[in-house]
Amino acid sequence: MALIKIDAARRIGSVDKNIYGGFVEHLGRCIYGGIYEEGSPLSDEHGFRKDVMEAVQALHLPILRWPGGNFVSGYHWTDGIGPVDRRPRQLELAWHSVESNRFGTDEFMRYCEVMNIEPYICVNMGTGTMDEARSWVEYCNGTGDTYWANLRRQNGHPEPYNVKYWGLGNEMYGSWQIGRLSAEDYVKKAREFAKVMKWTDPSIQLVGCGETGWTEWDQTVIAGLAPLIDYYSLHLYTGSDDYYSNVLAPALVDFALESCRATIDRVRFNQQISHPIHIAYDEWNVWFRQRSAESALEERYNLADALAVSSYLNSFVRHSDTVKMANLAQLVNVIAPIFTSKEGLFLQTIYHPLRLYAEQMQEVTLDVHVDCKQLTLTADQERSRGSNSIAALGPFKALDVTVTSDPDGHELAIAVVNRDLEQDHTTTIQFADPATITRGQVYEVNATDPSSTNSFEQPDAVIVQERQLELEGGNLTYTFPAHSLTILRLHME
Ligand code: AHR
Repeated sequence: MALIKIDAARRIGSVDKNIYGGFVEHLGRCIYGGIYEEGSPLSDEHGFRKDVMEAVQALHLPILRWPGGNFVSGYHWTDGIGPVDRRPRQLELAWHSVESNRFGTDEFMRYCEVMNIEPYICVNMGTGTMDEARSWVEYCNGTGDTYWANLRRQNGHPEPYNVKYWGLGNEMYGSWQIGRLSAEDYVKKAREFAKVMKWTDPSIQLVGCGETGWTEWDQTVIAGLAPLIDYYSLHLYTGSDDYYSNVLAPALVDFALESCRATIDRVRFNQQISHPIHIAYDEWNVWFRQRSAESALEERYNLADALAVSSYLNSFVRHSDTVKMANLAQLVNVIAPIFTSKEGLFLQTIYHPLRLYAEQMQEVTLDVHVDCKQLTLTADQERSRGSNSIAALGPFKALDVTVTSDPDGHELAIAVVNRDLEQDHTTTIQFADPATITRGQVYEVNATDPSSTNSFEQPDAVIVQERQLELEGGNLTYTFPAHSLTILRLHME
């Protein structure tokens, strides 16, 4: 019998809603044909796909990163403003396509306004200059009688957009990046960008460009940018056709967050920096089957992928004192939870945990003790897409658990990913304080086969099953089925 012990007094941190954020890049059918399709009978007067908006709304997306991704390192934002028919069509080098610039800053801001989502803009530190970056801040946030603020007014938006979050470039360490930099060169360049962007609007929050969280790049960049940044970004993509390699890979998130947190703490102490530097996991997902640019990265997800996504979310919740923003890469069609055609859409398996966590998990993370079967994975067994073997991070608990409560401790949400492929786990759930559970609700994501996939033909192969929890007084015992996500929502008196 497994055991989950919960002590409501042991609070780890408050969950920032921004961990349920998203990301849209000018890549494949993410924007054009995804969130934006002018002239479609499914779109509104702005060209926004209404069916997509409805699906996005149910995800309670608090924040959206744009316009890239690799795309941003060749993007000149001024190409995307003003009359649409005069915007240049540009050769796009990150994904070897043509960018029509029909969707630009004002369209993105309108989307965020209509959807009540906080915008997060990443600036071009590849081919872009610091003057372009700071004038983008002025265009969005300027209130004075200045050229860029006036241009925004002329383009139909008298009020400033007040974009708070700005990223200092994307993956500038990568050989695939336009304008790749060494860590030292990135620090030099980013300092100047940061300086002029903050001079333009001191209220903005800056996100430094991180790698995985455990590399030399991360050490150098955190040390070099700590006085100037409010967030440090990390990226992680995992995935494998091997069930255990896939569902256990998000252990890398715990490793990354703990390593990176240690570096940030050390740098803040050594440099006596008093402002906090939080982690923004601003790209993360399962991504491995459709890797080539030709396939436009239109990944199809199965139940095992949904369990991996659940474990990513568990790691963010577990480290809620450190990670204050996370952006699933991406939102529609491209490695995404929502998949469209010209006629409609279906929800991928990974959509369901994303919606459930945003909807059901509460504001405070509680520490939790879990005693259960351990799973091991050897480097030989592991078949992962990248070079980071997770075998050394094991053994892994079969039950990956997080617990959250509301500030008063009356509402509890317990998220349990049972990663065991074969075995159900009957579990005692114990509370440190005597408390009576007066109501309980169960949300379960599962299917008979972990390779079950949703599609236009079978949109409901993997969905959320919801039912009332049957309570029988005393301690709670619950059986978590093999290869499933369960969220237990409890009301306590
Ligand atoms: O999300 C797809 C790509 O993955 C992004 O453009 C890039 O930042 C990362 O390598």
